[in-house]
Amino acid sequence: MKVVTFEATPNIAVVKYWGKRNTQLILPTNSSISMTLDSLKTRTSVAFDETFEKDELYLNGENVDLEKNSEAKERLKQLDAIRAKAGINKKAKIVSINCFPTAAGFASSASGLAALACAASKAAGLKLDSQELSILARLGSGSASRSVLGGFVEWMKGEKEDGSDSYAVQLADENYWKEMRVISVVVSQGAKSISSRTGMQQTLETSELFKKRLAYLPAAIDSMVEAIKEKNFELFAEITMKDSDNMHACMADTKPPIIYMNETSKKIIDVVKELNAASTIAAYTFDAGPNAHIYCLEPHINKVIEALEKLPQVEQIILSKAGSGPVEISDEKEHLLDPVTGEIRKHFFDKGKNKIIVG
Ligand code: PMV
Repeated sequence: MKVVTFEATPNIAVVKYWGKRNTQLILPTNSSISMTLDSLKTRTSVAFDETFEKDELYLNGENVDLEKNSEAKERLKQLDAIRAKAGINKKAKIVSINCFPTAAGFASSASGLAALACAASKAAGLKLDSQELSILARLGSGSASRSVLGGFVEWMKGEKEDGSDSYAVQLADENYWKEMRVISVVVSQGAKSISSRTGMQQTLETSELFKKRLAYLPAAIDSMVEAIKEKNFELFAEITMKDSDNMHACMADTKPPIIYMNETSKKIIDVVKELNAASTIAAYTFDAGPNAHIYCLEPHINKVIEALEKLPQVEQIILSKAGSGPVEISDEKEHLLDPVTGEIRKHFFDKGKNKIIVG
């Protein structure tokens, strides 16, 4: 049986996506920009076979019951699109593992669904370009559309109703702005109060501020493209922080209000403000949770980490650079699924043993 394995990584948006104009196809209200990380990898192996009776998903060693878990089933929508493109009816077995401590509190949907688009399309015999892969990944999670490419990426919102022009393009590869780093600060491992899927539509439907957000975003996108092109960290930082603040203000303006940040998140904002007192060296950004991601340039890493480590509530700090985007793992021994038996390779998931790669 043909097994295909890919590893992909998350991305951290600097101009955020929050709101869909089409919830079925996951078409956003605005374009967004992110950097794909080189760490926090998700590895995914996929096989299609006529002996499989139904689609099966194993996440971090646990079988996910797709009959009972409608959200997981919804996220795997791209499988039908892949089957239709490839002209096959075979069911799929998907085995996915986060190659970092799962307790780290990071969402892995972007990396997981980008890895799935690459592995499943290839396993189905398709040879797709990044545009097609981005559209497939987007069907499971909007932010995943950006993780099919490395470096700095823009997800263009598109205009068409069928979503064929809503995909990610690379603005600059992972070697372009070599000094750029992201310090991810884990402050809480608890589950989200409300999923981003539900929360963003509530914002769109009830927030007055959100209308202003939509009006300001095209200029923010243009300035961010300029900041990356010029490697202008000050401008990059200004837009990044403003856009995170703006998105969280719209969340708070939602009825009922959505608050993802906690007291430690606010303390991190104060730390960054203090670090930037003389000149701008760091930029915070928060997604749908209290963990912070701090962009800074390589010469300032130690100073920024030292300041963050002073906060007793900080649980973990993970340092990333720009990553290359999804990578195929061709070594047969590294597949999570045995190509001969079609069984999942349990040794990758044994608790207590080192799994694959940490970091
Ligand atoms: O990961 P999704 O598709 O549910 O969307 C989350 C969006 C944010 O992470 C909050 C912002 C972004 O652009 O990544």
